[in-house]
Amino acid sequence: MKIDIVGAGALGLLFGGKLAAAGERVRFWARTAEQAALLRKEGIELTEPDGTVHIIEGKRFAAGTLDHTAGTNLAEEPDWLLLMTKQGHITEALLSACGRLAGKDTNIVCFQNGAGHLERIRQMIPGQALYAAITTEGAKRSDGRRVTRAGFGETRVGVHQAMDFPDFSGESLVKMLQKAGFDAFLSNDIGREMFRKLLINAVINPLTAIWRIPNGQLLESEARRSVMRQLCDEGERIFRANGIAYDADIFAQILEVCRSTAGNTSSMLKDILSGNPTEVDFINGRLVEMARAKQVSAPGHELVWQLIRAMQPDMNIKI
Ligand code: PAF
Repeated sequence: MKIDIVGAGALGLLFGGKLAAAGERVRFWARTAEQAALLRKEGIELTEPDGTVHIIEGKRFAAGTLDHTAGTNLAEEPDWLLLMTKQGHITEALLSACGRLAGKDTNIVCFQNGAGHLERIRQMIPGQALYAAITTEGAKRSDGRRVTRAGFGETRVGVHQAMDFPDFSGESLVKMLQKAGFDAFLSNDIGREMFRKLLINAVINPLTAIWRIPNGQLLESEARRSVMRQLCDEGERIFRANGIAYDADIFAQILEVCRSTAGNTSSMLKDILSGNPTEVDFINGRLVEMARAKQVSAPGHELVWQLIRAMQPDMNIKI
């Protein structure tokens, strides 16, 4: 199968590298020409959780940048386009470049955290089968070509906008991911799973970033748990007001994620520590928007949203 990976960050390299190693025809679309050249020249170095190191040589895949597609055969339409950038990197320019890559039979799969992006993508790239993927895979990129898989996560794929396409269920993608070594499943209610993940992220991510602790330490005091409880209760109220179905044991699930990822640095804490913008606008910010739309009070999410915004670099201020 022909797979385009848009975004060569940690998850992009992990998924794309393993798919290329399993024999799929992978093209990476990186942000810089330097990274694309490095990938082509030296390949990907992928470390599995047990310490095994795999080199996926550059000749086994293609790599370029979306604004510099010279020398790349754009007539080669991918079967699957995996959009693996962060929400904040989904600009109009990126989406119109994805629209140029996609042929009429290309399926687009969005891997982002948060909510709201699928509607934007559907508007910018209409007429394309659109899927969402939720993954608990974690990976760390140490340079442009080295990636370490944190543990064995789970990836769920579901249709967001069904079209009259040969594979509108995502079954062939799931099989291909399984063959490449991922624990992948089809979901027939990906919308519900996205909101479940949204609330998990909305509780764990800002608190770990504010307190600068790994996920597991959220469980270490009653005071921390009670702040988590407040964020979770507010989230449940927002979901109810918006008619969004959620699991009755969602708080227990959040605690379980803290346990199973105890040693992990959340993605938001990683962004804060590396001075990058976070995804807080698409997580807590999105919940606040949903709360305001239904006049539900969400003081906890309002506060953590503003606290994180004040901790990250302000993209609008020029010094
Ligand atoms: O964003 C993250 O870091 C992850 O989604 C999660 C589940 C909070 C684990 O670290």
